Amino acid sequence: MKNVLILGASSGIARQFERLVCADSRLVLAGNDPDVMAKIATDLEVRSDGRRPSIFEFDSANIAGHAAFVQQVVAEVKHIDEVYLFFGVMFDEIECHRKPELAAKMGLVNYIGAMSILEHLANHMEANKAGLIVGVSSVAGDRGRASNYLYGSTKAGLSAYLSGLRARLAAHGVHVCTIKPGFVDTPMTAHLKKGGLTSSAEKVARGVVQAARKRKNTAYVPGFWWMVMMVIIHLPEFIFKKVKF
Ligand SMILES: NC(=O)c1ccc[n+]([C@@H]2O[C@H](COP(=O)([O-])OP(=O)(O)OC[C@H]3O[C@@H](n4cnc5c(N)ncnc54)[C@H](OP(=O)(O)O)[C@@H]3O)[C@@H](O)[C@H]2O)c1
Repeated sequence: MKNVLILGASSGIARQFERLVCADSRLVLAGNDPDVMAKIATDLEVRSDGRRPSIFEFDSANIAGHAAFVQQVVAEVKHIDEVYLFFGVMFDEIECHRKPELAAKMGLVNYIGAMSILEHLANHMEANKAGLIVGVSSVAGDRGRASNYLYGSTKAGLSAYLSGLRARLAAHGVHVCTIKPGFVDTPMTAHLKKGGLTSSAEKVARGVVQAARKRKNTAYVPGFWWMVMMVIIHLPEFIFKKVKF
């Protein structure tokens, strides 16, 4: 049975993903609230014939703690077969304009911290000459929009990082998959108005499972976001800067 490490295990999308894979995986849940993870572990234990996931405290922003975190996980499971990076924050954009330190915190959690922890894990998998790394980025990283370019730029950094990591690890038997969800109904977007393009966390989790199984390089989830983003990416700048979105 494969060992699957989930970073940001309490995320709305991650929780649906865990339910989909718990029957045939040994799950290692990592997140910054042990009490919440203990509750998730109990739910998954029931769903997987009594196999309780392991729990590890993990803070993306605590860069200094990442090496010890990976050592602890490896000490318990010996080898990590798959890693799924779900964690992320999306602070209010207007609030970030007033307090740029919040924007920097978002960059630390979503991009710098992701880069740091995945480098540690990539080294582990490269040495094992096997593995799968799935990073959840966002369509918001494809082009900076006036309404959420701070969050979007953290995801642009993550997407570029995953692309390079994929190229680095391809010769070492490790695959890297980039997931780009569109708008998803989760705690992250609870305060926002939902429109026709909103997807459920379960639908996106299914897309993650499928993309991972097919060893996709990049997957827009749901797939129609590829078309939407092609239009947005190719809008000429003189039009783009006048569009309010
Ligand atoms: N929802 C969307 O519309 C959407 C669209 C595109 C991409 N995404 C991306 O999809 C991923 C999952 O998001 P979601 O919608 O499921 O959001 P969510 O429910 O708000 O989950 C975010 C997760 O990140 C964790 N987290 C926050 N700060 C952390 C830190 N410093 N260290 C470790 N974990 C931390 C949270 O843990 P705590 O709750 O314990 O803080 C939570 O588990 C994120 O990367 C997000 O950017 C979401």
